[in-house]
Amino acid sequence: MNVRESGRIKWGRAAAALRARPLMDRELPAFETGAAPERPGELFVDWLERAGQADVLDAGAVVLSTVDTDGVPDARVVALRDVELGGGGWVFATDAESPKGTHLGERPVAAMTFYWPAQGRQVRVRGAVEPAPASVSAAEFLARSPASRVASLVGRQSERLDSWAEYDEAARAAEEQLAANADAVPPGHTVYVLWADEVEFWQGARDRRHVRLRYTRALGPDETWTRSLLWP
Ligand SMILES: Cc1cc2nc3c(=O)[nH]c(=O)nc-3n(C[C@H](O)[C@H](O)[C@H](O)COP(=O)(O)O)c2cc1C
Repeated sequence: MNVRESGRIKWGRAAAALRARPLMDRELPAFETGAAPERPGELFVDWLERAGQADVLDAGAVVLSTVDTDGVPDARVVALRDVELGGGGWVFATDAESPKGTHLGERPVAAMTFYWPAQGRQVRVRGAVEPAPASVSAAEFLARSPASRVASLVGRQSERLDSWAEYDEAARAAEEQLAANADAVPPGHTVYVLWADEVEFWQGARDRRHVRLRYTRALGPDETWTRSLLWP
């Protein structure tokens, strides 16, 4: 759809395909909000484990949204690395020199959106983003598989690729670098923590009576959260 001509939408093949397969048209789990724990991290880990039990593929893949210097949002999938239960932090890793890393350097805020279709569950996390100390980033990198380390050592994420020959040469150089120094860490490799201010748990329902529970971090030195239900 071209937004500049949105008054002239002609519903097309995509609309027909989408209408033929309505979303969440199946039995979905109940969400007993009265039994929800005091902190969102605990509920998140509970839901994550249940997603695994329900065979949700790639339950740890999450859409990370950032904002560029012009205020224009951008989003892409990253891998969730951990949830810091002590302080309510959602952990991911990327290259600080990538577009998203640049966004985070300039505007250190982000949102994460999980969707686990087998259960019709969405989790939304918003807050400030902080890079972890270099030692934490290095340790996280060194725990990765050799293939993952080579891919990161190649670097230049999201730059224009002019030819695969250029990439293959960079990958060979990265392999040689790793063979010569097993502790090599790309300079930009960074673990980030999204310190949640708000976390929403959304349980879809076939009859559209979706159940939504939002945790909001209370101001103060201790980690305390208020919980509220939201209209679907
Ligand atoms: C399942 C999945 C997991 C991914 N995990 C990561 C990740 O952990 N870190 C990362 O930098 N990119 C990851 N990516 C690639 C990003 O989606 C993206 O292509 C890349 O980071 C460049 O994004 P940027 O140009 O916005 O910086 C993943 C992609 C998918 C589909």
